[in-house]
Amino acid sequence: MKIFLDTADLDEIKQGVAMCLVDGVTTNPSLLAKTGKTFEQVAPEITRLVSGPISLEVISDDAEGMIAEARELARIADNVVVKVPMTEQGLIAVAKLADENIPTNVTLIFSAVQALLAAKAGAAYVSPFIGRLDDISHEGMELVEQIKTIFDNYGFGTEIIVASVRSPLHVLEAALAGADIATVPFKVLKQMFIHPLTASGIAKFKEDYAKIPKR
Ligand code: E4P
Repeated sequence: MKIFLDTADLDEIKQGVAMCLVDGVTTNPSLLAKTGKTFEQVAPEITRLVSGPISLEVISDDAEGMIAEARELARIADNVVVKVPMTEQGLIAVAKLADENIPTNVTLIFSAVQALLAAKAGAAYVSPFIGRLDDISHEGMELVEQIKTIFDNYGFGTEIIVASVRSPLHVLEAALAGADIATVPFKVLKQMFIHPLTASGIAKFKEDYAKIPKR
């Protein structure tokens, strides 16, 4: 399973790249706003830091506007993926962009039929938002399982990005469900390294190493 970082924070991305574990990055307007920097200061730099797919989101409501934005975004770098909202207009844009070989990531997916439509439209990726479903007492991961089944049933090449990840448990469940990608906040990536038994095991080995007679 590929791991994307769900952030627009350049320091976090640099640290993730140093771990050699980051296969791509997803951003959205909220994440960009958090950086306090302009889009121009942040987006091109992300595409340079990570060679994998970088999702950058359009904000127009109509297909024509989305397509115009998408063409601009795609000019930033070859690894840009255009993030398009799951709406009728969004999917019209997705289909036209697919004809132009501009890859899209359909975002804000909350049902399996939405994912089916996005795949039929030619999306390269779909992003089901798991945490936001859990927040309203729905089993977010069931959605991922349903989408996986549908895509396998019909051989869709669209990849599933498990988004709105809140914890390492979400990453575990995404992997067990066979999702292609989990896009994780930097904090969650750091949490994934940690286990108390690893820490205590290292401490014990160090302690015992000191007891080994030295020549
Ligand atoms: C995905 O691409 C989105 O950027 C993100 O996962 C949304 O997560 P949130 O629900 O934590 O805002």
